[in-house]
Amino acid sequence: MLNETYFSGRRKALLERLDDNSAAIIFAGSEQTRSNDTEYHFRQDSYFHYLTGYNEPDAALLLIKKQNNSQVILFNRDKDKLMEIWHGRRLGQEQALKCFELDQALSIMTLEAELPQLINGCDSLYSLMGKCQAHDKLLANTLTTLRGGTRQGLSRLGKHQDLSIILDDMRLFKQSTEIEVMRHAATISCDAHTIAMQRAKAGKYEYQLEADILHHFAQNGARFAAYNTIVGGGDNACILHYTENESVLNDGDLVLIDAGCELHGYAADITRTFPVNGVFSTEQKAIYNLVLKAQLAAINLIKPSGTIKEANDEVVKIITQGLLELGVISGELDKLIEDEAHKDFYMHGLSHWLGLDVHDVGDYFNKERTRVLEPGMTLTVEPGIYISPDSDVDEKWRGIGVRIEDNLLVTVDGNEVLTSGVVKSVDEIEALMASNN
Ligand code: GLY
Ligand code: MN
Ligand code: MN
Repeated sequence: MLNETYFSGRRKALLERLDDNSAAIIFAGSEQTRSNDTEYHFRQDSYFHYLTGYNEPDAALLLIKKQNNSQVILFNRDKDKLMEIWHGRRLGQEQALKCFELDQALSIMTLEAELPQLINGCDSLYSLMGKCQAHDKLLANTLTTLRGGTRQGLSRLGKHQDLSIILDDMRLFKQSTEIEVMRHAATISCDAHTIAMQRAKAGKYEYQLEADILHHFAQNGARFAAYNTIVGGGDNACILHYTENESVLNDGDLVLIDAGCELHGYAADITRTFPVNGVFSTEQKAIYNLVLKAQLAAINLIKPSGTIKEANDEVVKIITQGLLELGVISGELDKLIEDEAHKDFYMHGLSHWLGLDVHDVGDYFNKERTRVLEPGMTLTVEPGIYISPDSDVDEKWRGIGVRIEDNLLVTVDGNEVLTSGVVKSVDEIEALMASNN
């Protein structure tokens, strides 16, 4: 359960990693205007959520670690009867002290005034630098106040450090409670993909399949998608982040669906590609099976001591060789691999970390992603082949876009596929779709 025991545990773990005699500040998100005086639905900042589970905007968490005596202080919005009548409940400071393990709860209105005194005497301040200009400015003002206040008993801070170096690494390794939530998010999302396969048919609009998916998310406890749902029929499947979802689905086309729910802040990120009419054509099947072969090979390589790069190198080899054998491309295999011929058809990365953000935080070490995998990491495996309609290949291949994406947990022995609850072989997909007609 992601309860206060869990969140206070995260704060304690963070405090342990901070330098002695330091302070760290993490800001909540703020509401964003959608139109005129209405806002997008508020989504908490992932770092703030990770440390508090508190879902109000305009707040800040301050951790102070001085001579083995640590303090946790929350700044949040004041109670306000009129605002609460119009816009919703506010926890306020009194309730915050009851709900959370805090040493103090103070009004967010007092943050800028209180901060210099609270962190005075610390050697360093950690923050998520560069994330929000307003917050950076507030902290710069705080540093200026400390520097200029020596006659008032203030002392300058020696260091201002980037907290993301510590927090990103913490977030990269999932605790058992987080993994439970991610398994659940994966299950809900798998079932939504199954429903989409069952409900697809020619004449239906892409956004109607999207609606089927979102409906299932909400009916099962996940009110929101973790990212904008992609439902791309036909050529639209070749647009990697297609989210217009406004076209009609056509008989004979494939449809690519990339959708995952957000549950208690955690994302699932699944892609399945299937024929609108339930039966793959010869060319669609050939490309699909090639992507699947590459994906299964990559999944086998996701294990402790493996790297994303190794898995991707294998995918590139399989895809290049497969496209060559099918006659989509021509040339000599080694030369094609050396020339990165796959990039015309497989132009994105194989994998990304997954967690509170769909593209979760965590250092990959470099562009090739050579970080050695360790138990507790969660990531996607998502090769694809996209043959755009204007591609310089035999016409029969044009407009076929396929991605297959699963979510994995690296375990001591290898990996656990969190998203195995939705079919992905040609036979399984065709059988599922046939059973529905
Ligand atoms: N849904 C975005 C991605 O797969 O990375
Ligand atoms: Mn995806
Ligand atoms: Mn992904």
